[in-house]
Amino acid sequence: MFRRYDPDRPVPAGVIDTALGNAIRAPSAGFSQGWDFLVLTKPEERQAYWSATTDPDDEPDSWLAGITTAPALILCLSDEDRYLRRYAEPDKGWTDLDEARWPVPYWDIDTGMAALLILLTAVDEGLGACFFGAPPESHEDVFEAFDIPHDRNLIGVVSLGYPLPDTRSGSLRRGRRGLDQVAHHGRFGVHWASRAGFQHVHRAGLRAGQGLIEGHGAYDAGIAVGGEGIADQRPRGDADERGRINTGGAEPGHLVREHLGDGRA
Ligand SMILES: Cc1cc2nc3c(=O)[nH]c(=O)nc-3n(C[C@H](O)[C@H](O)[C@H](O)COP(=O)(O)O)c2cc1C
Repeated sequence: MFRRYDPDRPVPAGVIDTALGNAIRAPSAGFSQGWDFLVLTKPEERQAYWSATTDPDDEPDSWLAGITTAPALILCLSDEDRYLRRYAEPDKGWTDLDEARWPVPYWDIDTGMAALLILLTAVDEGLGACFFGAPPESHEDVFEAFDIPHDRNLIGVVSLGYPLPDTRSGSLRRGRRGLDQVAHHGRFGVHWASRAGFQHVHRAGLRAGQGLIEGHGAYDAGIAVGGEGIADQRPRGDADERGRINTGGAEPGHLVREHLGDGRA
């Protein structure tokens, strides 16, 4: 995730187009596709978002000072009703529209998956992005500011832009939970025996990056594809001094294609 951007470099409209085009290829329960995306690129639009979500009397903290430099915001909205209506159709038959039938809110999950595809597109296109939540008490003001129908749920916002060096998120100090902790084999509690040394690497090729490297003006991409599936573990600081994203060898466009295949007409 990147939380500070070059405010003078707008996100090309084509990139936003690609990101949205990928977002709508996210999986969705019953192919309900209960999502909407509100794109804010003009300064006054973005300012309206920040005005709705912050207190003007508060001095901006470093998070806010960084994230407000993003030249594009995409509000990700889920649409529960679309799922209830979809699953009342004859092939599903839940005509009572009862929310209790849903083990988890698939409308929010599917919209989150779509948001992830926007994040992955940013990596592919050489940009930075961050998914973040809007304070719950601000949702009403955000909905008012942008005429968002009240049956939608604002699941989060993706900021997009060309990243500038930044301090790493303090949360990363927690360290990544390894496969030895989170993956179980056959029975919960029986640890997945990961191949030695790759407890932090997803076999399918996704890896979590190291975030921004303070003071180096360089960083690893949030996620990158690593050939056979095992990303390199190059030392931090070896990355490009001009601040270009180090994708660990992945070609631009590689990542989302890996996920979506070629047939995206
Ligand atoms: C549901 C969700 C909510 C998040 N909310 C915020 C947020 O409000 N502010 C923020 O800076 N990052 C937020 N993040 C980003 C996480 O902090 C970030 O993914 C995590 O620290 C790991 O860092 P990385 O994605 O750069 O590896 C959120 C991520 C998710 C998935």
